[in-house]
Amino acid sequence: MPDRSLPIGVFDSGVGGLTVLAALEAALPGERFLYLGDTARLPYGTKSPASVARYASQCAGALVARGIKLLVVACNTAASAALPALARQFPTLPVIGVVEPGAAAAVAATRSGHIAVIATEGTIRAGAYQAAIGALSSDVRVTALSGSLFVALAEEGWTEGPIVELAARRYLDAAFAQPLPPDTLLLGCTHFPVLGRALAGVLPAGVTLVDSAATTARAVAQLLAQRGLASPLAVGATHFLATDGPERFARVGSIFLGRPLLAAEVELVDV
Ligand code: DGL
Repeated sequence: MPDRSLPIGVFDSGVGGLTVLAALEAALPGERFLYLGDTARLPYGTKSPASVARYASQCAGALVARGIKLLVVACNTAASAALPALARQFPTLPVIGVVEPGAAAAVAATRSGHIAVIATEGTIRAGAYQAAIGALSSDVRVTALSGSLFVALAEEGWTEGPIVELAARRYLDAAFAQPLPPDTLLLGCTHFPVLGRALAGVLPAGVTLVDSAATTARAVAQLLAQRGLASPLAVGATHFLATDGPERFARVGSIFLGRPLLAAEVELVDV
C-alpha cells in the first residue's frame, strides 16, 4: 500500500496541464501535487505517436522515480498515444487520463446530440475522443477538428485579441455553419481552456464550451477514495518541474493556473 501522503504526479507537454492542476488543487485541497511540464519538447500535438509515447513514458518515469501515489496524464495527446502503455509500464500505479473525463463532460452537456471536439492533430488522428464519446453514447454525432495552432497561441500567452479570433474562425466557422450544427464544443486539449472567452466570442449563441478539468478532478477524487489513497494532510502543496525555461514556465503558467507562479518555484529537470 503506497504512502497516502505521497504526491499525485501530473504531467503535460507544457503549461496546458496547469488548467487540470488548478481543478485538482481546488477539489483536493489536502493533496500534494508534483507537476511536470515537458517544455523542452513541446508541442506534442504535431509529433508522431511513437515519439509522444516515448516522451510520456519518460515523463511518467521521472515522476515515479520521485515517488507518487497516482498519475494524471494532463495532456490529451499523450493520453491518446500512451495511456495503455503507461498502465503496463507501471502496473501498480493508478493512471488517469483526460480523454474519458472530457468525453463524459461533453456527453452530459449536449442536448442536440451533436458535439464538436477541437484538439491537437495527434489527438484527432488517434480518434481518441471519437472512440471515448462513442463508448458512452452510440447516438451522439462527433465533428472532430484539429487546432494545433491554439497550443502555440496559448503558450505565447495570447489568450484574446484579433489573432486568436482569426485562428478560431478559421478552425471553427465551417463546423458551426453546417446544417444541424453542434451545440457543444469540447476543448480536447488542456491548453485550450485559457482561450475559452475568445472562442465563445466567435461561436453561435447557445453553444456550450466544456473541458476535462473538473471531470478529471472528480475522477481522481473517486479513485483516491476507492483505493484508500486520500491524503491524511490538512493542507496540500504543489511542486513544479519543467524540462526547459523555468522563467517562461512561471510567467505563462500563472495564466493557466489562475494564480501567481514564481520562477523560483519551478525546478529545471532532465527526463
Ligand atoms: N496540452 C496537450 C494536450 O492536451 C498538448 C499540447 C501540445 O503539446 O501540442 O493535448
